[in-house]
Amino acid sequence: MPVFKSSSLEFISRSTEQTRRVGMRLGALLQPGDVICLVGDLGAGKTTLMQGISSGWGSLDGVSSPTFVLVNVYRRPDGQRLYHLDAYRLNGASEAEDLDLNAMLESGPLVIEWADRIQAVLPGERLWVTLEWVDQEQRDFMITAQGSHYQTLLHDFRKHVFGVS
Ligand SMILES: Nc1ncnc2c1ncn2[C@@H]1O[C@H](COP(=O)(O)OP(=O)(O)OP(=O)(O)O)[C@@H](O)[C@H]1O
Ligand SMILES: [Mg+2]
Repeated sequence: MPVFKSSSLEFISRSTEQTRRVGMRLGALLQPGDVICLVGDLGAGKTTLMQGISSGWGSLDGVSSPTFVLVNVYRRPDGQRLYHLDAYRLNGASEAEDLDLNAMLESGPLVIEWADRIQAVLPGERLWVTLEWVDQEQRDFMITAQGSHYQTLLHDFRKHVFGVS
């Protein structure tokens, strides 16, 4: 049973497919300027969630782990962009500064894997998603809204996924 609070939401995903579906619900709500931070160990499901986010947002491109490029850019028929940054290989916040996140945020939403590694350069207002391995098929999600815009986003997300607000 999900736990309902105004600025956070916790639930268990029971399968890869369910994580993708949850991601689709979130992706459908994203607007340019939105910052979504994904945090969790190797194999927690960050990229799997991103696959759903990208398809819910409307991307026609497939998602891959940005292992060799730091940032993947997905496009939509209307010309909007969705940015997917993997901070795993960045040497801390100073390298992230070189990426000019603000320029990305002007033209699309930004989703960041391993966001905890570059906290210093991230906006204080964001949606913070922590994924934890429970067992082979289950992952614990803790989503926290930081800032009023993200409280609204989380409210809408909760309504779409669980049918309650
Ligand atoms: N409930 C679940 N949600 C998400 N992934 C799951 C779930 N159950 C099993 N899995 C599997 O766990 C793996 C998650 O891998 P994924 O690449 O998404 O993790 P990641 O957090 O991006 O790791 P990395 O830090 O290495 O990039 C996939 O193989 C996926 O099929
Ligand atoms: Mg990944």
